[in-house]
Formats: sequence, structure tokens, C-alpha cells
Amino acid sequence: MFKEDTLSGKTILITGGGSGLGLAMAKAFAHTGADIAICGRTEEKLEKAVKEIEKERDGAVARYYQCDVRDYDGVTSMFEQIIDDFGSLEGLVNNAAGNFLSASEDLSPGGFKAIIDIVLHGSFNCTHVFGNYLIDNKKEGNILNMVTTYAEGTGCAFVLPSACGKAGVLAMTRSLAFEWAEYGIRLNAIAPGPFPTEGAWSRLVPKKVMEKKFIEKIPLKRVGEPEELANLAVFLMSDLSSYMTGECVVIDGGERLQAGQFNFIDGLMSRSKLKKLFKAMKAK
Ligand code: HXC
Repeated sequence: MFKEDTLSGKTILITGGGSGLGLAMAKAFAHTGADIAICGRTEEKLEKAVKEIEKERDGAVARYYQCDVRDYDGVTSMFEQIIDDFGSLEGLVNNAAGNFLSASEDLSPGGFKAIIDIVLHGSFNCTHVFGNYLIDNKKEGNILNMVTTYAEGTGCAFVLPSACGKAGVLAMTRSLAFEWAEYGIRLNAIAPGPFPTEGAWSRLVPKKVMEKKFIEKIPLKRVGEPEELANLAVFLMSDLSSYMTGECVVIDGGERLQAGQFNFIDGLMSRSKLKKLFKAMKAK
């Protein structure tokens, strides 16, 4: 779908790029011409990821930065170092996240804060530092925020801090898309449905039966492949999407459409029985 030079001339930072969907995006960006910076807390993971990313293209440059996105000063130093190392920075993907399952009445204030700090403050910290760099240097840039399908509309039971944090990130995406359009800065979001990654699945899908239930409620009857999400991210980080800003693109196999009032009928009986029923009703 993309050319080898779709992202050439761009350096992109992916927070939490050492594993999971962050790493899948980093690889896809490198494959399509970008140079890559990734950050995270665990050096071992980052070091291994950088080697994988560099294999994606002859001449691809990837570097890692150990950084906790919750720490504004640490984030500031990281951006300074990245710009020093690469000469410039054109893109940011706020992918680093935290989440766990809990009955909300059992949450500790510290638990709520930990997730909000990573998801909302972490995304703000990186966006604020990157935005100021772009504005000060009169440079155009592109920011992609990873949210979730429950960031808008429904919220989500048992993951309250994540639902609140991601809703905030989506509000930030749209607020700044308007405010920073003046500077040529675009901001978009991706809302993924279920994409099994070690980090998310170990915390959110502890039992096989939950995975089965997940799949049952997805019209396309399967979970997502990281490459499918990465392709969307390449599009949004590239100039192919240059007229898009403030948008949140859902990629969930249709999972969000469950809310359709009569959609449940599909699960009651086979499609052929349903069609017979509809015909009988028509004949009446
Ligand atoms: C209840 C918990 C908890 C749990 C931690 N806490 N885990 N409370 N249930 N399972 C509480 C602790 O008791 C503590 O509260 C506070 O949270 C901070 O915990 P720490 O372990 O000290 O924090 P820290 O080491 O910073 O770890 C942060 C973390 C951890 C978020 C808790 O899980 C983490 O590092 N996660 C990063 C990776 C991740 O979560 N990936 C999944 C993202 S998937 P007190 O009160 O004692 O201070 C995602 C996709 C969503 O977001 C969409 C899916 C479909």
C-alpha cells in the first residue's frame, strides 16, 4: 500500500515503542522510510527493539531513550537529546499507556493516579514539549495519539482510570488540532479495538473465556493484527493524510457497532433461520 519513501525525511518518536503496538508502528515507520526514536522505562526491551527496527530497512536509524513519560523534566531532556542526535524531529506517537482491571470501588487513589499520570499527563508532557519545539522553530509536525474505542461515548466498566485518561487524550487531540493548526501541527488519534499484545492481554484478558467473548462480539469475528494498526498509523503520520486533523479513526473489526438496537438478533439464531422468520413476517 505504501512506498519505501512514504515517510522518508521524517524522524518519529514513539513512546512505549519497545514492545506491542508501539514496536509494530515503529517497524512500519522504519520500513516506509522514517528514522525512529523510541522511549520506555526498560532498557533491555528498548535495546532489543532498536535492533529489530533497524532490520526493517537498509540504512534505517533507530535509537532508544530511557524515559518515564510521567516526568516532565525527563521528557524535556529526552526531546533535547533526540533533536541533538537526529538533527530534527517531525513526528510523535503518544502510545505509552497503563491499564489494569479493577472494580472501581476497590481502586486506591494511587492506582487511579498511576494510570492518569501515564496516559494523560504522559501524553500531555510529550505533546507540550514537542509542540513548543515545533512552534519555536517554525516547523510543521504531526502528532498521533493512541486512544481506545471507549474513550468516547460509552466509557468502560472495570478500567475507569484508563477510560478517564483516554477520554482526556481524545479531548486534547481535538483541542490542539484546532489551536495548533495555525502552526501547521496536525493531531489525530487511533481508537483500536482488541489487539492482543503481551502487555495489554496479560493485564486485561486473564482468562481464555474472555478472549472468546471478545471475539464473539466483533462482527469480523477475529482480533486485530498489529500490522493492520501499523498501516493506519503510517497513513496518519504521512503526508497522504495532510488534510486530516482532529480525527479519531476507529479500527476494531466493527466491535463498536454492537450498540445497534436490533444487532442482538443476529446472535439468536442462524442467518438462514432469521431469513425464514423475516419472510414469514412479511407474508402475514
Ligand atoms: C489495582 C493496582 C494494580 C492492579 C497497580 N495498582 N496494579 N491497583 N489493581 N492490578 C496500583 C498500586 O497498588 C499502586 O497504588 C499504584 O497502582 C501504582 O502501582 P505501581 O506498581 O507502584 O506503579 P508502576 O510501577 O508505576 O506501574 C504502573 C502500572 C503498571 C500501570 C500499575 O501496570 C504498568 O507499568 N503498566 C504499563 C504497561 C501497561 O499497563 N500496558 C497495558 C496498556 S493496554 P498505591 O495506592 O499502592 O500507590 C491499554 C489498552 C487499552 O491501555 C485498550 C484495551 C482493549
